[in-house]
Amino acid sequence: MPEDSEIIEQIVDRYDGDDGMLIPMMQDLQAESGYLPADQLRCLGRHLRLPLSRLYAVATFYSSFRLAPKGAHEVTLCMGTVCYLKGSASISEAITREFQVEPGGTTRDRLFSFQAVNCMGACAVAPVMTVDGKYYNGVSPASALEILYGLTKEHVTADKEEQT
Ligand code: FES
Repeated sequence: MPEDSEIIEQIVDRYDGDDGMLIPMMQDLQAESGYLPADQLRCLGRHLRLPLSRLYAVATFYSSFRLAPKGAHEVTLCMGTVCYLKGSASISEAITREFQVEPGGTTRDRLFSFQAVNCMGACAVAPVMTVDGKYYNGVSPASALEILYGLTKEHVTADKEEQT
């Protein structure tokens, strides 16, 4: 398996080292690794002579980039204008507080990845959250946490069944 620096060199060469192609380079890097590991971002920044802060600014601006490996479940919370006005910020804070995961991250036990995205096209039933593509409408901090604790229980049950 190629070393980090080899992977980065191949990607940078693919775009002739043009730092204007930073986003496609980061997309290729994510396609290789499944996410954007900190070491690889640092290495890419060095190759392009760009400050790491610029790469992180791009990585956190676009919701398609992930800074942590994928969790078993994908949780997406809409932070679009309507959802925001109806309280999605407090839902996000509750999830971060309760599960120690920031938007763009994955819980330590890899139970779920948490993404904050823009309008999901369901403003009439805001705020909206999805778990593995299933929509939950009109969620509150309490109901969002309940849904996510449901995932935890499912996993505990599945693990117990596997052991028996
Ligand atoms: S703003 Fe959230 S669905 Fe439109």
